[in-house]
Amino acid sequence: MKTMIPEKLRFGILGAGMIANIHAQAIRTLPGAQLAGVADAYPAAAEAFAGRYGIAAYPDYGAMLADDAVDVICICTPSGLHAQQALQAIRHRRHVVLEKPMALTTEDADRIAEEARCAGVLVTVISQLRFSEDVRTLKRLVEQNAFGRLIFCNLFMKYWRDPAYYAASSWKGTFALDGGGALMNQGIHGIDLLLHIAGSAAVLKGCKRTLSHKIEVEDTAAALLEFENGALGVIEASTCTAPGFERRIEIHGDRGCAVLVEDRLAELTLDGEVLRDESRRSDGQRCINTASDPGKLDCSLHARQLQNMMNAIRGSEPLAVGCADGRRAVELILNICRE
Ligand SMILES: NC(=O)c1ccc[n+]([C@@H]2O[C@H](COP(=O)([O-])OP(=O)(O)OC[C@H]3O[C@@H](n4cnc5c(N)ncnc54)[C@H](O)[C@@H]3O)[C@@H](O)[C@H]2O)c1
Repeated sequence: MKTMIPEKLRFGILGAGMIANIHAQAIRTLPGAQLAGVADAYPAAAEAFAGRYGIAAYPDYGAMLADDAVDVICICTPSGLHAQQALQAIRHRRHVVLEKPMALTTEDADRIAEEARCAGVLVTVISQLRFSEDVRTLKRLVEQNAFGRLIFCNLFMKYWRDPAYYAASSWKGTFALDGGGALMNQGIHGIDLLLHIAGSAAVLKGCKRTLSHKIEVEDTAAALLEFENGALGVIEASTCTAPGFERRIEIHGDRGCAVLVEDRLAELTLDGEVLRDESRRSDGQRCINTASDPGKLDCSLHARQLQNMMNAIRGSEPLAVGCADGRRAVELILNICRE
């Protein structure tokens, strides 16, 4: 059992695919963190990844868990494996950075939360967009009642994924390992943000379809929501709306409105004063836009979330995104899919 917190927290990465690179790059930007090693079901994938970052490749996950030099495990594997692999890490007293979705069922999410609590380890569920300055601003404005009574809190995610995106993967689009499509894979980012900003919501009506892609799970979904604060909301999510549009979250109240486009506040009007209107700006703001290309991520927001996790391990800051947050997004998605 690990007790001492070392000067630099050492991260092991499980799964050496696309998002693992973002984790590795993020860890390398953090002075208090060190990349310890990587494991993958395919040793050749782990070795190639290890070579790229100058770290050790473990023969398998068991070997990584047996290494006392690893303090935190980043789980970057197909979604259907997250729950079991997170539980393994927790049972070895490791802190866990768990890629979204944290689990495919609320029962598994509860098990992770309970075992982590009993083991005294932290689990953060990745929702990197929460660490955008504009998302923080929007959440603060809602908390301050700046928009007055909230009327609509909406999420529109009309993304495009090429058929090759699914064809090239052994697990994307499958029930067992993706657990869902436009909602559970891509939509969960916006759903977590919507709930983070506007609070919990009940699903009044949900609807999912597979309209264009040849996959087992939904490529399109819509829902009608009612928030605990009394506002109504709609969700539209799809991965077959060409050419792909930036994700929008719209907050409308009786005193103003805001539009979050991907992770930037594009429009803000309060009490009749237009404070932001992106259509009038020409300063080329930064935008992480995965509307049509999932590879267009950068590691800066992951780095902020990992920094928060490290601060929480050291007890200097509360954990920003824990199991309850990860569970809430999964639960809403499952309620939409229940129809
Ligand atoms: N936060 C984000 O913005 C974001 C973006 C993309 C993906 N993700 C999430 O990250 C996870 C991985 O997605 P990806 O796009 O990197 O997938 P990927 O297919 O590129 O990589 C997955 C890796 O896991 C490995 N793997 C499979 N089974 C394994 C096992 N049993 N043990 C160890 N390794 C195993 C594969 O060999 C592969 O290298 C998914 O849960 C996805 O939802 C998050």
